[in-house]
Amino acid sequence: MNSYVNTAVGALLGTVFVLMSVSIASEGIFHSEAPEKEGFTIVAEEAPAAGGEGAPAAVAVPIAKLLASADAKAGETIFKKCQSCHDGTKGGPNKVGPNLYGVVDRPIASHEGFAYSSAMKDFSKGGSEHWTFENLNKFLTAPKKDVPGTAMGFAGLPKDQDRANVILYLHTLADSPVALPDPNAPAATQ
Ligand code: HEC
Repeated sequence: MNSYVNTAVGALLGTVFVLMSVSIASEGIFHSEAPEKEGFTIVAEEAPAAGGEGAPAAVAVPIAKLLASADAKAGETIFKKCQSCHDGTKGGPNKVGPNLYGVVDRPIASHEGFAYSSAMKDFSKGGSEHWTFENLNKFLTAPKKDVPGTAMGFAGLPKDQDRANVILYLHTLADSPVALPDPNAPAATQ
């Protein structure tokens, strides 16, 4: 009886061993393929995630469209975050950051009496670049990504609506605010 069981168990173990060997061997054969596929899946998953964070400026709704439904009053509230470093009044002082009265369409890094970082001066291309709505939109999304090395220690406003609101508010801080961009113009307004 015992030996019969032993034989049976032995045979079973033998079968299991063979099956395992086959599965290990076949894994070995397919092994080279599996990680390649996995690798691709991971990359594919990461790409949109990274884009979601860092690329709103590139992919997102054009600022002209965002401004069309923006709210300057709400922007004034958001501007409170900026006010620890920026004054927005006419003839007001430079603080940690430059005065922002009339910043829309102003040449970049051009406010009198403010010592801009070399990163911001480079970004201004010798003063030929202006703070257009597009430039403001990109910069305020993630200042340090848009202008690496900028002295502006502010993480940015990742939400479209917040950015549009504050940009619309900035636009009102001027003697004669520039015209808002046409929301129906083709997207490539850069
Ligand atoms: C912690 C301080 C700080 C905060 C908060 C901050 N900024 Fe700034 N900002 C700066 C500094 C410093 C600079 C100058 C950057 C440089 O020279 O690189 C700057 C530059 C700018 C410029 C470029 C101005 C020019 O004359 O070229 C704009 C536009 C701007 N900030 C808008 C904003 C807005 C809008 C907010 C709020 C949503 C904000 N900043 C919040 C410190 C700050």
